[in-house]
Amino acid sequence: MAALRAQLLARLLASRGFVSGADLSRDLGISRGAIWKHIEALRREGYEIAGSPRRGYRLMKQPDSLLPPLFFQLLSGTFGRSYYYYRQVRSTMDVARELARQGAPEGTLVVAEEQTGGRGRRGRVWFSPRGGLWFSLILRPPVSPALTPSLPLYLSLAVAKAITAVVGTPAQLKWPNDILLEGKKAGGILVELSAEAEVVSVAVAGIGLNVNLTSFPPELGTAVTSLQNVTGREIDRGKLLAACLKFIEENYPLWCATGFTPFREEYKARLTLLGTEVTVHSRNGAVHGRAVDVDGDGRLVLLLPQGEKRFLAGGEVTLKKE
Ligand code: BTN
Repeated sequence: MAALRAQLLARLLASRGFVSGADLSRDLGISRGAIWKHIEALRREGYEIAGSPRRGYRLMKQPDSLLPPLFFQLLSGTFGRSYYYYRQVRSTMDVARELARQGAPEGTLVVAEEQTGGRGRRGRVWFSPRGGLWFSLILRPPVSPALTPSLPLYLSLAVAKAITAVVGTPAQLKWPNDILLEGKKAGGILVELSAEAEVVSVAVAGIGLNVNLTSFPPELGTAVTSLQNVTGREIDRGKLLAACLKFIEENYPLWCATGFTPFREEYKARLTLLGTEVTVHSRNGAVHGRAVDVDGDGRLVLLLPQGEKRFLAGGEVTLKKE
């Protein structure tokens, strides 16, 4: 059923004008009545399809949709070609991990319109209603586990570049991997790894972007925003997702081969809080100091009041409170 609808949509997309019901029925091998039922279903999904008894059907307008036939047209590389699309899941991380366990190839993408149990870093709940971009990408980097702390940083840079390219708004970064717009959090990245002793067997990269959201629960306060809130318009999520994949994929071999160093300057150029006094909260407690650099391993370099430098591989940065 879904495959037939996808075929019908692809046929309408490929045609600039009307396609007769007879042609569609012949091409898809189903009755004209069945074609009409699929057209109605597509209309319910938000496609505007003109129908004329003499001329047939014509696609007038597509919804902002991540549905496979539309989305595949936007892809430029190999990531995302293995595509799992859900209206609702608990978390795309769970689905992707299970697919990875079953042997899904690198570049497999899991997307959900809505997550009921979206999760963020440090065990937090991730607000994931309809309108956002919530996806997990399966990576199988042939690298040693020692390289992986910089993977989320590499990914956040790629996503920031995608936002700037598609939306035109300069996206900034907060170490290690928060995506900021106008100083407020608009997205985040969660990487879950399984590693053998020597090599990473799979990394599931979960990326959440507040795209077409206009309001947030009060507990998130005023520190969050969305692309729609910042630009004042609805963003095409399919285009943005395809751009994220393109930017992730194009330099991924370089990251696998050399690590974070080639991306360090570009990453630092988008970084906020560099040069300011911060507190970094990590498993080992809180450290205060001035954020002065990010090194070639992606570690934040803090200059402590006593003049000593501290290299931090993970944690949560806040502006220092006196
Ligand atoms: C963060 O805390 O900043 C990271 C948030 C990551 C959220 C994404 S949304 C898609 C994927 N599925 C999840 O449950 N989490 C990640």
